[in-house]
Amino acid sequence: MQLEQFVSQAWDIGPAEVLVRRIEISEIAPGSTLTAAPSMGAALTSGEHATWKSLDSSSSRQHEWLLGRLALKDVVRTWASERGQQLEPRDIEIHIDDEGAPFARCAALSAVGGSPVISLTHNSGVVVAAAADPGALIGIDIEYVNRRIDVVARALSAPEQAFVAAEVASVLDLLVAKEAATKALGVGLGGGVSRWPVVAVTSVPQGLIVEVTSITDLGLVLPVLVLHPLDTVLGICYVAPDTDAA
Ligand SMILES: CC(C)(COP(=O)(O)OP(=O)(O)OC[C@H]1O[C@@H](n2cnc3c(N)ncnc32)[C@H](O)[C@@H]1OP(=O)(O)O)[C@@H](O)C(=O)NCCC(=O)NCCS
Repeated sequence: MQLEQFVSQAWDIGPAEVLVRRIEISEIAPGSTLTAAPSMGAALTSGEHATWKSLDSSSSRQHEWLLGRLALKDVVRTWASERGQQLEPRDIEIHIDDEGAPFARCAALSAVGGSPVISLTHNSGVVVAAAADPGALIGIDIEYVNRRIDVVARALSAPEQAFVAAEVASVLDLLVAKEAATKALGVGLGGGVSRWPVVAVTSVPQGLIVEVTSITDLGLVLPVLVLHPLDTVLGICYVAPDTDAA
């Protein structure tokens, strides 16, 4: 594997301001969801390498974590390339904050206004990473359409159940929107389905715009574009820099 190349593929989906890349897990590790080529570790900084090796190699988590870092580095490199900066994977270090939200550090990007904001999501078949300009809010979530949602359905409010009953949006659409919105805020849903009410659903040519708010701040409104590529539901929450989410 040439590290100058990208592990992920560009995915032309969602708002123009958001770069999205995806890794098909079956293409990276044919016949196995548990192992990645050892050379992929060379994309990591020494700190990232130590974290990777500390993860349980007998579970899928180590592999998932690595592919997430590769996808995030790829999307940051793409964002940088569009601004005239050619970066190697190890020029970028991916960290997580106290809530688990990923962010990128890259000294070279100080010349172009800093590192982009990033978000990551995975299911058992695909890893998706997104990037947008510094100061924006970005949160993404992907789920298979056949994901079990009984628990979520029971946690929906009466207005949300009305959206589902009217077939304006599915339960999974609402869950994905809540996940993407809370990731954009850097807090994550953490099972708090009822704490993030959906206040509006609008049909647009590409899919749906689902507006998510917070039970503790009903003035806060986060728009999530919900799309239905193949057998998945993908949510992209994007708020431009210097825009009030409210
Ligand atoms: C932590 C959480 C973001 C995980 O989301 P998920 O849908 O289970 O998993 P995804 O693959 O979509 O996203 C995981 C990635 O989100 C990112 N993430 C984690 N915490 C985050 C946060 N607070 N803010 C933004 N991004 C976060 C990480 O990059 C993580 O990947 P990594 O651990 O490999 O770095 C959060 O929403 C959560 O706790 N979900 C639990 C599931 C849930 O609440 N379900 C409701 C049904 S009752």
